[in-house]
Amino acid sequence: MRKNIVAGNWKMNKTLQEGTALAKELQAALTGKVINCDVIICSPFIHLASINEIVDGKSVKSGAQNCADKVSGAYTGEVSAAMVASTGAKYVILGHSERRAYYGETNAILKEKVKLALENNLTPIFCIGEVLAEREAGKQNEVVKKQITEGLFDLSAEDFGKIVLAYEPVWAIGTGKTATSAQAQEMHAFIRQTLVAKYGAAVANETSILYGGSCNKDNAKELFSNPDVDGGLIGGASLKVDAFLPIVEAF
Ligand code: PGA
Repeated sequence: MRKNIVAGNWKMNKTLQEGTALAKELQAALTGKVINCDVIICSPFIHLASINEIVDGKSVKSGAQNCADKVSGAYTGEVSAAMVASTGAKYVILGHSERRAYYGETNAILKEKVKLALENNLTPIFCIGEVLAEREAGKQNEVVKKQITEGLFDLSAEDFGKIVLAYEPVWAIGTGKTATSAQAQEMHAFIRQTLVAKYGAAVANETSILYGGSCNKDNAKELFSNPDVDGGLIGGASLKVDAFLPIVEAF
């Protein structure tokens, strides 16, 4: 059975001291608790090594929010997949809409990042999603299919089996405007059908597809109750334990 996952995306928030304090508080809150999902915190690069000392890797796991599309060398300011992995992190968010929109990340670039992440035993949390104009034009399926096809469909079935997907309608990110439960389910079912057509039902049914975009403690339960929604990628609500924990407990 595919995994349920709740992943926090801290984005560019928290100093090192604030981030380690948050990780400690979350780990303490989840230690010894029965939880029905994997919990991942995706912190800024500079937090990763410290956070790996704090989380137990079982009830709380660590991930990054990005990695470079090159192996190593003269790429000032970049952080490679191997460097991320060397901190003990196990996951990396790739293709977040903010990276696509503000830093020019294309599907072709993301394909390289995915390859390097997998080579370094990092699980990519690969983000896809349409902007408002595309949804209003009824093009959301087309857009999401293109992102998946160009970013991921060069992978073998075996490698694709290591991917986590996160559907994040861009119009719902940080806006307080969540997709309805029905809109989320409709898109997640479409994504899964797209995976069935490419890799077959066995791979598609094992792939966790997370929802992201203004997911919070009030809507998580309903969103996660959909058959094709396997958890959430949580931005704003991952920055405080009392906002994040109820989302974890929604499973
Ligand atoms: P949000 O962000 O929960 O603050 O809308 C989600 C994300 O961008 O991953």
